[in-house]
Amino acid sequence: MRHDKSLEIQGVQQFFGAKGARVQALSRIDLVIEPGQFVCLAGPSGCGKTTLLRLIAGFMSPSEGAITIEGKPIKGPGPDRGMVFQAPNLYPWMDVRANVELGMKYQGVKKPQRRTQSDYYLQMVGLSDFSERRPYELSGGMQQRCQIARVLASDPEFVLMDEPFGALDALTRERLQEELLTIWRETGKTIIFITHSVEEAVFLGSRVLVMSPRPGEIVLDVDSNITQGGERLPVSELRSVPEFIALRDKVRDAIQHSHP
Ligand SMILES: Nc1ncnc2c1ncn2[C@@H]1O[C@H](COP(=O)(O)OP(=O)(O)O)[C@@H](O)[C@H]1O
Ligand SMILES: [Mg+2]
Repeated sequence: MRHDKSLEIQGVQQFFGAKGARVQALSRIDLVIEPGQFVCLAGPSGCGKTTLLRLIAGFMSPSEGAITIEGKPIKGPGPDRGMVFQAPNLYPWMDVRANVELGMKYQGVKKPQRRTQSDYYLQMVGLSDFSERRPYELSGGMQQRCQIARVLASDPEFVLMDEPFGALDALTRERLQEELLTIWRETGKTIIFITHSVEEAVFLGSRVLVMSPRPGEIVLDVDSNITQGGERLPVSELRSVPEFIALRDKVRDAIQHSHP
């Protein structure tokens, strides 16, 4: 089910704290994110990436400016947006499957359909054998995979991901990167993905954004569709493609020299 909703961020600034101790997290963000884009957002720690994602999720309203979806201002969280947090946030009293099915349950998805969906996503994240376990019986990485399954299973049009793979081992990370790309290609979801890894940003994103140190503003905005004969290459092969190397260096440079 492809969607056609564009996301517009207009003159968004964000301040935290009271007078005297006021911190400006976001300087002035203007962005249009087209339906179906895979946007990777990189930038130094503390530059406001999570803040921007939380604003899009609707957990808070911007101090200045507006964020709209199809021209309608975001008023709060909604089922059209799903957020994968940096740290897993499962309900400890529910087993893995119940956690994965929760969003669907809220949406009124019938039990057999919930079962089919949770089976699919548990398999995808490698947790099929753990569906009846409680979160405390899982490692941190497994809990994170469960959170990812939960968000994808609820089928939001916008998938917001805050360094989702940061705590995973390299192999699991590469497998989930591939799975996420497949889901993105098949569903046409809009994905906004924060990462510390420049390679991950260039490999996954169809567009890469770099933010400056706090107060964050966008200092680089580039297309990142590196294909050969129309095919996307696995990251291991990409590393020797000149186009990839050039883009990776450009993004790395932007992060290192982004001081306003
Ligand atoms: N709820 C909050 N209250 C006060 N300051 C905050 C809050 N959230 C974030 N900040 C501050 O805003 C800045 C940006 O934070 P954040 O968006 O988490 O950055 P990033 O995700 O890029 O590391 C930081 O200086 C952080 O301390
Ligand atoms: Mg963050």
